Amino acid sequence: MKIFVTGGAGYIGSHVIKELGREGHDLLVFDNLSTGHEWAVLYGKLITGDLSDKLLLNEVMKEFRPEAVIHFAASIQVEESVREPMLYYKNNINNTLNLLEAMRAAEVKNFLYSSSAAVYGIPVKVPVDETVELRPINPYGTTKEVGESILRDMSVAHDFHYIALRYFNVAGADVQGRIGQAYSKPTHLITRALKCAKGEAKKLSIYGTDYPTTDGTCVRDYIHIDDIASAHVQALAYLMDTGESDVMNCGYGHGFSVRDVVSAVKKVTAINFPVEEAERRAGDPPVIVADSGKLKAKTGWEPRHNDLEFIIRTAWEWELNSVRKIKVLSSKARTVIRNGH
Ligand code: UFG
Repeated sequence: MKIFVTGGAGYIGSHVIKELGREGHDLLVFDNLSTGHEWAVLYGKLITGDLSDKLLLNEVMKEFRPEAVIHFAASIQVEESVREPMLYYKNNINNTLNLLEAMRAAEVKNFLYSSSAAVYGIPVKVPVDETVELRPINPYGTTKEVGESILRDMSVAHDFHYIALRYFNVAGADVQGRIGQAYSKPTHLITRALKCAKGEAKKLSIYGTDYPTTDGTCVRDYIHIDDIASAHVQALAYLMDTGESDVMNCGYGHGFSVRDVVSAVKKVTAINFPVEEAERRAGDPPVIVADSGKLKAKTGWEPRHNDLEFIIRTAWEWELNSVRKIKVLSSKARTVIRNGH
């Protein structure tokens, strides 16, 4: 199948690309490489371009004529969204509209959307399922809620079909060790803790120790990146088979506190690094854990790496080997690249 993938050079996008590529799909990645990397795209063609460049986007969409679009490209940091809300509204909403318009112009009807657990805010029940009212508590979550609303309205008005996957806390690296997370300024807990273990950061700050949880730190549902990737493959197959639009959680249903994660990182790496207790970080909900029953029941998705230490181990192996691996990947001949206007 021909699939157009925005943000396919980024952390989650590139792991989904490797699964879709392995299945033999014809992939076109559209990425501005602001946080993604050319070396991370293991399959398909990469076009460097920005979703604000409507001319390029429309041209590429019309030329490629995909059967489905997967939309990863977005700004994703909760705290940054509190500081820079306009950036989030522009990148996550305006650019999504540009993409949807280009799809309409090229008569592309199937869409997989990267949504987030951040749409729930502080959920009234945990694990949270998709039926609860959405009450995001930060601009990032609001942009994802608006994105979902646009899709819902489009599916009513037009011959348009979508699945929005609400990701919980995605972590870890390719089980085969080929690719992994490579942000210049990592903000995620597991990556930051591993940087401390590696000696690249002096100490880990725990943001908030007075939350209403068992040990006072925030609780999250950490899910392995390859299970997120397989969820996309299953969800896309389901969408193409049934044409049924839906919204599905993507997590394991277990919560770990920040302190649990720090202990697990110390155990896996066998390195004891300094940890300090710090102020709360803006926009953080205390507890968020997924009920992914719908995703499993409808698409047949079954997670394979539901183990915090395994998640950390894959991320740690990537941290230790990434410089060498990136060098090898970068030296390989790449596919067609065209710059935006
Ligand atoms: N944390 C620390 N110290 C750090 C980094 C993080 O204590 O150095 C804490 C955070 O305050 C939070 C928890 O660890 O309580 C997890 O933080 P992350 O930054 O790893 O992840 P978030 O929960 O903030 O956000 C992630 C994604 C969002 C998504 C959300 C869904 O980045 O896109 O999960 O739960 F919406």
